[in-house]
Amino acid sequence: MLRRRQISPMDREIIDKLIRKREEEIRRYELTGRKKEASNVILRLIVELNHIYQIERKRNPPVAEYVFPKLNEWLERLHDNMKYVDTPAAISLKENEARRESWRVVKPSRCLEDIVGMDDTIEWLLGHILTALEHGPGSESPLPGYDDVHSNLCNFLFSGPPGTGKTHVAEGIAHKIGELGWKVNFIPVTGADIKNSNYGESEKRMLSLLEFAEELEGVSVVFIDEFEEIATRDRHEATASITNAILTKTSGVNAVKNVILIGATNRPWEIDKAIKDRFVTVEFSLPDAHTRFKIIEKKLEGYDNDKVKVDMQNIRLMRKQIAELTEGFSGRELLKAIRNASRHAYMEAKKNGGKIRIRSEHLKKGIMEVRRKIETNAVFVENYPQRFDIF
Ligand SMILES: Nc1ncnc2c1ncn2[C@@H]1O[C@H](COP(=O)(O)OP(=O)(O)O)[C@@H](O)[C@H]1O
Ligand SMILES: [Mg+2]
Repeated sequence: MLRRRQISPMDREIIDKLIRKREEEIRRYELTGRKKEASNVILRLIVELNHIYQIERKRNPPVAEYVFPKLNEWLERLHDNMKYVDTPAAISLKENEARRESWRVVKPSRCLEDIVGMDDTIEWLLGHILTALEHGPGSESPLPGYDDVHSNLCNFLFSGPPGTGKTHVAEGIAHKIGELGWKVNFIPVTGADIKNSNYGESEKRMLSLLEFAEELEGVSVVFIDEFEEIATRDRHEATASITNAILTKTSGVNAVKNVILIGATNRPWEIDKAIKDRFVTVEFSLPDAHTRFKIIEKKLEGYDNDKVKVDMQNIRLMRKQIAELTEGFSGRELLKAIRNASRHAYMEAKKNGGKIRIRSEHLKKGIMEVRRKIETNAVFVENYPQRFDIF
């Protein structure tokens, strides 16, 4: 990849504009002798410049290099004004900065095309998202129902048993939005990343996550796994206030406009009612026999090189038996079975010499290994009755 050596005029303008704006504020305060306020603005600018510096250091080094001397300049100015700085305000700015530091934008690499058996759901999801992107609030041609200026782009609740593709689909959506030409920021987190035992801290973390997503250029896909950890209104003050934070950032004047929010959960019954009302629920279920075999086929097909040959013909002969043996498997468990099969074939090839040939007997062996584990774990998934039908 070609690395840019110089800062783009647009980036430079954004940074210069920010500095000019803060300089004006500082001057206004200084003119009226309000040294404390002026110093706080200096501090705020430092926090902002540092934020840009930290983010762009790896992503766009010329921007970081441009910001660095300015950051130092302002640090020196702060030094001269230190005695006027309002300490509680400074600490809260610093804390806020620390919170933001913990959010990361991830490059989405898995795509929707790899998901089997969910074509209709995915088409519907994409339809919903693209309509919101193209004709949502703030667009030049808003569509009825999509024109609410006090709302974020859209909110989904991905609900279903573990291993059924919730994380994969969320990443795939971000990938697809990028493919369609939008600048996209994928921010995957878990409920536990947000939850904090210190009083009031969880709510601030939730707000900081959504503000972080909002301030990025382009569309942000925020994916919160284990959503029930935070989107439940139990007896605890902490979770109730996170729920409120989500509600205020998805509707009303503080709505984060460029954000698609996706929560995923294995325990949908624990999700707060008000949240459920604002989120569109998307059900993920365990794959049926036909889909299970298709997932296996899709994963194995095409391996025929100097090291590995998947004997697909041989495996297809056992299609019915394989589909039966994998009853109750999630996508993740099917992949585990395939992994086991590869290992068995590999060990065999090592012993006998020659190329690895993955055949139905390896796959069956791999499936049985996973089955044994599922049977011992079955008690933990009692809330999904379809699981139980097999045992
Ligand atoms: N319908 C499916 N088609 C293809 N792969 C699937 C499907 N469902 C799950 N997988 C695969 O199983 C693994 C687990 O999926 P993941 O998205 O992490 O599940 P969840 O988030 O629901 O627990 C991933 O590697 C994913 O690619
Ligand atoms: Mg997941």
